[in-house]
Order: sequence, then structure tokens, then C-alpha cells
Amino acid sequence: MKTTYHIYPTPEEVAAAFATFFEKWSSGKNTFTVALSGGSTPKILFEHLAENYRGAIDWQHIHFFWGDERCVPPDNADSNFKMTDKTLFQHINIPKENIHRIRGEADPAAEAERYAAEIQQFVKTENGWPRFDLVILGIGGDGHTASIFPDRMELLTSDKICAVATHPESGQQRISLTGRVIDNAWKVAFLVTGSGKKSVVAEIRERTGAWETYPASHVQAAEDLYWFLDEMAAGH
Ligand code: 6PG
Repeated sequence: MKTTYHIYPTPEEVAAAFATFFEKWSSGKNTFTVALSGGSTPKILFEHLAENYRGAIDWQHIHFFWGDERCVPPDNADSNFKMTDKTLFQHINIPKENIHRIRGEADPAAEAERYAAEIQQFVKTENGWPRFDLVILGIGGDGHTASIFPDRMELLTSDKICAVATHPESGQQRISLTGRVIDNAWKVAFLVTGSGKKSVVAEIRERTGAWETYPASHVQAAEDLYWFLDEMAAGH
């Protein structure tokens, strides 16, 4: 696995740079499977893709999944699907069957099972686990990624594809991919911006401080692990 860091002055430039990689990685493939993250940074990326890549990417071959979703209905302001639909899907020509929504409105335990089965149906299996072409992740100030929080480190090595998690502050339930699925992806890309992430990013990069307690520290990839950072998050 190779880890590379791409640092740009602003979140907008992070999004623009990542979009060029996304276009390159997803082009020329019959099917490209990607698991999205929620949060503020991907929103900037989705807006950039909608604005600049509507015709440049052949969306028909891209299948969108999520790395995690809040257990709320799809029209709820907290829904990662709602944010992605509003900023990206409504602006591109994407078949609805290519959008694999986690049903946040469903019973969480049942949905974790159902979503795992949907992933197994659409995402090829390699060494016993689904292998996404790309997993996009954010990182919380506490070092969480997807919805694997520091109080649930066992999800990094769970034998399940999806799990139900609870946000430690809000108590909000989430459905999340587990660590073995994330790590099995060909490419994993962290998109991290803002000074609020500076210290957690530095601890993870330098393997100092509380890095071992951060789920994000333990993320791997089958081929490439990327960090797309703005200068604030990179501590420049
Ligand atoms: C979510 C995300 C979560 C997010 C981090 C960072 O559903 O909230 O998947 O893991 O990536 O919390 O969020 P920000 O980019 O908004 O800081």
C-alpha cells in the first residue's frame, strides 16, 4: 500500500484537484464502485463535480454507495443521501439504480444486514470481502472515520460488512461500513479540510500523541491511500 499526501491552499482547490483524480480513476471502466462519506468537505467536492464534470464523466458506469449514513429519513437535513442528492445527483445524468442508498428510515440492525447484502450483490468480492474501487472518507476531530468512533475500535476488525454505531455525543444512530471493507478497497481517499482537523491529522501522520486511539489511523487500502488536505488541516 502506498500513502500519498496532496495539499492545496483551500477546500475548493482540494475539491478541484480530487475531482481530476476521480475522473481519471473512474474513466474507462465498465463499472466503478465508490463509497461516499458525509460531512462538509465532500459537499464542496459534489458541488464542484456537478458544476464542472456534468458532461465530462460517464456517470452511467459509476455506482454510488455510502461509507456511512445517519439513521434518519432521506429528506432529513442530517441525511448524507439528501446532501449528495441535492449537490450532485440532481445535476448529473445518473440512473437511479446506480444510487445505492442506505435506508436511514429503516430499523438500523435490519438495514445493516440488508445493505451488506446489497453491497455483496453489486461490489465484486476479493479475498473474501467486497472490494470497492474507491472509498472516500472524512475524519472527525476525535479521529473517527465513516461512523467508526473511538469507542468502537472493534469495528475496524469486525467480521460484518456493515454495523450499527452511535454518535458518542449526539446519540444519533448510524449505519457504517466496517474496517475490513474499507481496507479492502483498491483506493481510499481521506478528504480533510479546516484548522479543526490540524492536530488529529498531524498525530496520525507523525504517529504521535493519541494516534492509536483514532480509528482513522488504522485505515488501509489494497493499493493506494490518499490524503487530500487543505493547508489548514495540513498545519501549514
Ligand atoms: C458523516 C461522515 C463523517 C465525516 C466526519 C467529518 O456522516 O458525518 O461520514 O465520518 O466524514 O465527521 O465531517 P466534516 O467533514 O463535516 O468535518
